[in-house]
Amino acid sequence: MSYLADLEPIAREAGALLMTYFDRHIKIEYKGDVDLVTAADRASEKLIVERLKARWPKHGIVGEEGTRTDTEAEYRWYVDPLDGTTNFAHGYPVFCVSIALARRDGELEAGVLYDPTRNELFAAERGQGATLNSRPMHVSTTSRILEAILGTGFPSHKRHRNPNIHFYQQLTLRSHGVRRAGSAALDLANVASGRYDGFWEFNLNPWDTAAGVLIVQEAGGKVTRFDGSPFRLDSEEVLASNGVIHQELLQNFREIFDGRGLEPLPSPVEYARSRS
Ligand code: IPD
Ligand code: CA
Ligand code: CA
Repeated sequence: MSYLADLEPIAREAGALLMTYFDRHIKIEYKGDVDLVTAADRASEKLIVERLKARWPKHGIVGEEGTRTDTEAEYRWYVDPLDGTTNFAHGYPVFCVSIALARRDGELEAGVLYDPTRNELFAAERGQGATLNSRPMHVSTTSRILEAILGTGFPSHKRHRNPNIHFYQQLTLRSHGVRRAGSAALDLANVASGRYDGFWEFNLNPWDTAAGVLIVQEAGGKVTRFDGSPFRLDSEEVLASNGVIHQELLQNFREIFDGRGLEPLPSPVEYARSRS
């Protein structure tokens, strides 16, 4: 069964809808202290859910903005109608639509990510490889962290309880740099297309990761938890890479979790003094 032919137009339609709201000083609402949601998130979810239900009426749907239908069905869709809401609400053009299909046992069947600002559609179906705008796409061949460009993200809420700043610091010092672009789904797409060599994040949800994880795997990359165990849809930790640097990343994660080998930072106080 091929899903992409019917799925890709849905992602493109939702992306086009997001663009009609983008950069118009859209009203921001808060789901929690700092967790944003806009009318665009809701309109996009409504459109995607309508299209999925019409085409696959027996499938379940889990959407970030609250959709829960037939969640016991054998097949269920994971929908992030707008990944990168904070960027979107500030007019920063890094966001996408993410839609994935998984079986009840968690096996990923198909996924699409659409970035309407660049008209880029990333897609994969299990066992069929991954594509970017219909062309085959592969992860990078970078073989050392020292030569790698990496991505990460920080949760919008309870950020002070998250230790990621230590990983960000250490891997920034050890690589060509760590980007923090604000869309976990696009970060995964960037690993799949070879623009990043690796990406990690704490505290993600299945709608953030499902499509991107399959796309990375089908592009030849590897996705695990931070201890190297297999990624599952309910895993909040995601470590994705081109596969080649995966062991080295895991080794770095072990060291940082153990508090070993941490490179000291220069003191800003001393730096300021040395300037005067
Ligand atoms: C967020 C983005 C962001 C990540 C957050 C996610 P949202 O999703 O993917 O990059 O750091 O953890 O919640 O809320 O924009 O759909
Ligand atoms: Ca998201
Ligand atoms: Ca979202």
